[in-house]
Amino acid sequence: MSAAPEASASAGAAGAGGARVVAIDGPAGTGKSTVSKLLANRVGAQCLDTGAMYRAVTLAVLDRGVPLDDPKAIAEVMPGVDVDVLVDADGTNRVFLDGTDVSDRIRTAQVSAAVSAVSAVPAVRTTLVALQRKVSQGRFVVVEGRDVGTVVFPDAGLKVFLTATAQARAQRRHLQNLDLGQSSDYDEVLAAVNRRDHLDSTRAVSPLRAADDAVLMDTSDLTLDQVLDELTRLVQQRIGAPQ
Ligand code: DC
Repeated sequence: MSAAPEASASAGAAGAGGARVVAIDGPAGTGKSTVSKLLANRVGAQCLDTGAMYRAVTLAVLDRGVPLDDPKAIAEVMPGVDVDVLVDADGTNRVFLDGTDVSDRIRTAQVSAAVSAVSAVPAVRTTLVALQRKVSQGRFVVVEGRDVGTVVFPDAGLKVFLTATAQARAQRRHLQNLDLGQSSDYDEVLAAVNRRDHLDSTRAVSPLRAADDAVLMDTSDLTLDQVLDELTRLVQQRIGAPQ
């Protein structure tokens, strides 16, 4: 397992731990990925998508034919899995598995359906949390995930927990699917959103929950610009300008 942030990536002054980390957590479909990437651009930070790492490991598990109901077998895969993350100049994360760019393959429905089981395995989480800390070391970075403010960077300079109703989140995902030219059924998408929420928030290790000191923001009725304006203000107030 290794991390290879692009050499051109701006490495700001080394902050103490997570002082220069903006942690953005919340369930799928809250606009987290879009918000994190655009926020990072606005404030001059880099963006790290931790979900993409869990997806890459899930792909490795599926490719190796490991049964999803066997946490021990999943854990045994970890030492042989090599995940790299490259952050492009525009903030896009490219994810490599054993040297191959899998940025597209990690977005399939098959991976989405399997990722909750894989990300519930403690050995997977321990390895990826260490990788996330390593990649973020000394950087001004917006880190997007489920447990960034609670586990990965409990000392993050700003913690945000984005929420939205299950219906609003399913509607967004449904429209995204249609935009991508994929067939999509709203009721099925809603059921999948509810299923994944349940699995992610009830798992024993690092369940999805807001940190006590996180700023809660319900994006159901907010425009993207409204969310970004408020978050930009908070970043400037709590962390300041990029160094
Ligand atoms: O953000 P996403 O939908 O791409 O994340 C995929 C899955 O990875 C999600 O179901 C939960 C898991 N995940 C996690 O357990 N911890 C994180 N920090 C990020 C994602």
